[in-house]
Amino acid sequence: MILVTGGAGFIGSHLCVELLNEGHEVIVVDHLSNSKKESLDRVEELTGKSLTFYGFDLLDRSKLEQVFNDHPIEAVVHLAGFKAVNESVSMPLNYYHNNLTSTFTLLEVMQQFGVKNFIFSSSATVYGKPDRNPITEDFPTSVTNPYGRTKLMIEEILHDLWKSDPSWSISILRYFNPIGAHPSGNIGESPNDIPNNIMPFITNVALGQYKELAVFGDDYPTIDGTGVRDYIHVVDLARGHLKALNRTLVETGYDIYNLGTGEGYSVLQLVRAFEEATGQPVPYRIIDRREGDVAECFSDPTKAEQQLGWRAEKTIVDMCKDSWRWREYNP
Ligand code: WQD
Repeated sequence: MILVTGGAGFIGSHLCVELLNEGHEVIVVDHLSNSKKESLDRVEELTGKSLTFYGFDLLDRSKLEQVFNDHPIEAVVHLAGFKAVNESVSMPLNYYHNNLTSTFTLLEVMQQFGVKNFIFSSSATVYGKPDRNPITEDFPTSVTNPYGRTKLMIEEILHDLWKSDPSWSISILRYFNPIGAHPSGNIGESPNDIPNNIMPFITNVALGQYKELAVFGDDYPTIDGTGVRDYIHVVDLARGHLKALNRTLVETGYDIYNLGTGEGYSVLQLVRAFEEATGQPVPYRIIDRREGDVAECFSDPTKAEQQLGWRAEKTIVDMCKDSWRWREYNP
């Protein structure tokens, strides 16, 4: 059985679909702070399979122990965590307490029950402002906000844990920019509050819920002055977790993998791709840069391809079409 923390979320729900389709038994622990139980109901409809859900906070150690006591868990995929960069700047203690303490609790209970296969959801944000692109896993790390610092701290804590006990098998997955949705249109990114990332803003503009997209600066040293990112389809991202899980279940060690496409798109290129893919106009207005944004950030995904046998397959058109379908069906 695979335990997925945060499994009701955007990445988590898509991962549960892939795990169930691969024949894994899945347990989800999610306190639904930024997700809905309905997502998991839809996962079960999509796959025709059932999963086990527990709606409690990972900080509740006794409940977590009970889950490990009641189920033969062979690996944990840890996605649960607060992830809004701006919010982390205004509420650092909430972020450190939630993201770090919940991870300590989880790892301690895993150790207690002898479960040592662990996949951690990290982020390209740990690379800070890269000197150049594409980015490989050996690039220096530097974080500029509490959210990114929790990710980097946990990566380092996991490295110390593995050094203390090499029987652990730990895979760190550094996500670039996940967008898109399951092609069915039944699950997707549905933040409970104001969206943080660009694609929910684009689809809200396309739906007419927002008048225009605010483009955060067009004076960066990039192809058209707007920020360049490595957008990756959330289904490709989920499948990258499966490949990492297959490796983690048979090897021991500590490895870091970039999960990106290796291609960068500017904001305006993404907007144009969305308009062409969906036929929906996305009016926009250039405003000032957003504090903390980097000009360019895209991956070299060679290590994941060579060691995990994984490479993103879906195109920017797929990402735009699938994002739009999800919002059209769920306005
Ligand atoms: C993408 C591009 C913006 C919104 C963040 C986190 C990262 C990961 C992904 C969690 C940038 C521009 C955005 C808008 C805009 N999250 N933009 N108008 O900042 O690259 O990464 O989300 O793991 O850790 O740092 O993603 O989608 O916010 O921005 O012009 O309304 O779109 O400037 O160039 P980002 P994003």
